[in-house]
Amino acid sequence: MLATLLLVFVCLVGATHSGQPNIPGKDVGQPRLDLCPFASEIYPCQCTWAVDLSEPDLYCPHIESLEQLQNIFLTAFFPTKWFWRIRVSGAPLGDLPEDLFNDVHFDEIRLNSCNITSVHPDAFRASKPYLDTLELYSNLLTDETFPWWSLSEYPKLWRVHLHHNPFSTFPTLNTSALEDINFWETPITTFTRDQLKGAPNLRILEVNPNLESFPADAYLDLGYLEELDLSNNPNLLGGQLSFGQVTLNSPNFKYLYLSNNAISNIEVDAITGVTSTRLKLFLEDNLLTTVNEDVFKPLMDRMLDGWGELDVEGNPLVCDCDMYWLLNNATFLANVRTGSCNDGQYLHDVDISTWVC
Ligand SMILES: *[C@@H]1O[C@H](CO)[C@@H](O)[C@H](O)[C@H]1NC(C)=O
Ligand SMILES: *[C@@H]1O[C@H](CO)[C@@H](O)[C@H](O)[C@H]1NC(C)=O
Ligand SMILES: *[C@@H]1O[C@H](CO)[C@@H](O)[C@H](O)[C@H]1NC(C)=O
Repeated sequence: MLATLLLVFVCLVGATHSGQPNIPGKDVGQPRLDLCPFASEIYPCQCTWAVDLSEPDLYCPHIESLEQLQNIFLTAFFPTKWFWRIRVSGAPLGDLPEDLFNDVHFDEIRLNSCNITSVHPDAFRASKPYLDTLELYSNLLTDETFPWWSLSEYPKLWRVHLHHNPFSTFPTLNTSALEDINFWETPITTFTRDQLKGAPNLRILEVNPNLESFPADAYLDLGYLEELDLSNNPNLLGGQLSFGQVTLNSPNFKYLYLSNNAISNIEVDAITGVTSTRLKLFLEDNLLTTVNEDVFKPLMDRMLDGWGELDVEGNPLVCDCDMYWLLNNATFLANVRTGSCNDGQYLHDVDISTWVC
């Protein structure tokens, strides 16, 4: 039965490629054998052949139930088990069971906006050695129903996007593959150094909009951190960044997003530690009334190779002698991307020639 199917399949494919079926891995530069299952067997999923990756790609719009999705993997004939991705969205999937995709495996699994309520630790078992991206955002996962510990069983999984789920506690991460995680739109209010230290290769961390605090030592074990996005947390630290609060420890660190956080005061050395010299500091839409020299000059000194950036638009800045150090220095001012005085003048346009400071 399978042999017959395969024969029919190869003939069909041969026909579509003008009688020249090619074996994958041979004949570089020639069209490769298309290893998609028959369209009718996987409906409503659609398989396309990703030529550059030589792996098929599965896109599944209009899935109506978990059973419908499961059945495709139980009944269709898959000439290859190795797929690039699967994408499902807007399907009512609920609880994801063991071996959801049977023995078919993926590099990327994207099941977004599917009202997923739980994930079995072995739901994606066949993909464990291969998976590099897992997207399960806008679902209904909680601390109890997503098996965080199982991420340590995915040696290549570097990108995990689970934002917009009702997680309330930051998980204790234990995965050296993880590089990119975000918790946007979750009820999470804090995290600790201990919860992060099991993900020592983390490059990108984003948490909002309910973050209230984090300890000063939170980032000390993240020696590869590049981007910390704590924007849009209106209750973060009461709007006060005190001495040492954001202590970084990564020579690759470049992007610090603190926009829209009701920050009214930043103490000297509140943002400190090891960073790149291409620091970009995003502080738009806060309540800062000045760009204080003692606070900001050490930060601007981390931007002197021409790739740094300070963004302070949307703060009620009072442009007076306290800001002369900045407005009078073309090198510093070149790194100010956005910012205006509270009278509406751009920082770059302020005429300081008549100032007596
Ligand atoms: C998810 O659940 C909500 C609330 O019951 C419902 O309105 C929505 O249509 C569901 N979405 C899907 C994709 O089933
Ligand atoms: C972390 O994961 C590794 C590998 O799976 C495991 O051996 C270890 O016990 C885990 N550590 C913790 C603290 O869970
Ligand atoms: C601007 O700041 C840089 C870096 O601190 C300094 O080298 C330079 O002399 C300053 N320029 C002026 C005009 O103050």
